[in-house]
Amino acid sequence: MDNPNRQAVDSGIMNNTKDEKKNKLPIPPLLEDKNPEEGKAEFDLNVQYGKKEFIEGQETETLGYNGDYLGPIIRVDKGDDVKINVANTLDEPTTVHWHGLEVPGEMDGGPHQVVDPKSSWQPYFTIDQPAATLWYHPHLLHKTGEQVYKGLAGLFYIEDEKSKELNIPKEHGVNDIPLVVQDKRFTQDGQIPYELGMRDVMDGFKGDTVLVNGAIAPELDVKSEVVRLRLLNGSNARAYDFNFSDNLAFYQIASDGGFLENSIEMHEVSLAPAERAEILVDFSDYNIGDKVVLRDGSYEVMTITITEESDSSSSIPEELVDIVQYDRDDVVTTRDFVMSGMGPMVAINGKQMDMDRIDEYLNLNELEEWVVTNESAGMGMMSGETPHPLHVHGVQFQVIERNGGEPPLNEQGWKDTVMVESGEEVRLLVKFKQKGLFMYHCHILEHEDAGMMGQFLVE
Ligand code: C2O
Ligand code: CU
Ligand code: CU
Repeated sequence: MDNPNRQAVDSGIMNNTKDEKKNKLPIPPLLEDKNPEEGKAEFDLNVQYGKKEFIEGQETETLGYNGDYLGPIIRVDKGDDVKINVANTLDEPTTVHWHGLEVPGEMDGGPHQVVDPKSSWQPYFTIDQPAATLWYHPHLLHKTGEQVYKGLAGLFYIEDEKSKELNIPKEHGVNDIPLVVQDKRFTQDGQIPYELGMRDVMDGFKGDTVLVNGAIAPELDVKSEVVRLRLLNGSNARAYDFNFSDNLAFYQIASDGGFLENSIEMHEVSLAPAERAEILVDFSDYNIGDKVVLRDGSYEVMTITITEESDSSSSIPEELVDIVQYDRDDVVTTRDFVMSGMGPMVAINGKQMDMDRIDEYLNLNELEEWVVTNESAGMGMMSGETPHPLHVHGVQFQVIERNGGEPPLNEQGWKDTVMVESGEEVRLLVKFKQKGLFMYHCHILEHEDAGMMGQFLVE
């Protein structure tokens, strides 16, 4: 047996496919809003230890928000005044970062907003950005990779007039499906220790088993209608090329920061760590009992079964929203971000993260052009190329150029994370509407934890 880990996982799948034990896709619940007042929302989020049976008969030690693994979905409306009561019940510090949310630096939940063991933190902010599928996760210095890997991640939905009025599926868990996709490496006794080998330090920690919402190869039942899938790559380091068996076409309607201007017909969507895509898949021509497999390349991630006739006639809207494009002529400052190095040496502009150093100073509401390059190339024996997905806190930006050309259509909406492959140059237009200290970093969490992160102050 060359891979004992794999065997443990395979037997788990077999047990789960027994009819009476159908391995249903778990749907993270919507977190209860404790404030009944219109325009206000309040949520409780407990960071806790958990135990979860990913593989039948094996209890895995995990971390979770309000549960054993992952977290509930926080859903708010644009304009809401939001308060969140974060309680850290762990024996170790953590932070809760709102990835993609435009809030003041001190509410951002980055490495400066440490929530000590047995302590709490009450961030509050007003939602001032369009409907989007965002997420939250820890951001403790040097510990982000481990805490996310153990299970700390959840989705954060913003809804607005537009998302409510568009003719798209909106029934949570029925035809509006959250999909948090992650990869794991299980030991023989079903544990998920976060121990980095040489390879993991170089390329980031990648697993051999893909989970969706915490389940291995789950099954989702749908009606023969249009279904909306909200994909989050919640993995530490793995990038995905999502496609369907039968080469089924689908339509991307949203990127990281909200709806695209038009739905885009695609056969495959690539997501770097932290990127999101909302896609619509039309199952209306399928028969009851038909199955479609969501795949990463040729790896089977999840099976979708059409189990019911739909009474609604659904269609794919072509036009979605208007996005006001920034004008390059308004750029005040241009900055370079050079990502380089390998393994423990990964750096941005030749520097590694220093909590006491501010790397860039920016002005509020001023348009900037960021030129992001990846100079990490393969060295000698080491296997080649290191991709770096750059993420910027506190903002949604526009990608205006990729390697001197127009970016692909699905990068022409709001983004907060952008994949930069080895040797590539990507240009962004960025404007900050919130003050404070924010991070920019590679979202391969092992790179981030190794120091591939910098800080900027917006004033
Ligand atoms: Cu998703 Cu700095 O984080
Ligand atoms: Cu972030
Ligand atoms: Cu990186």
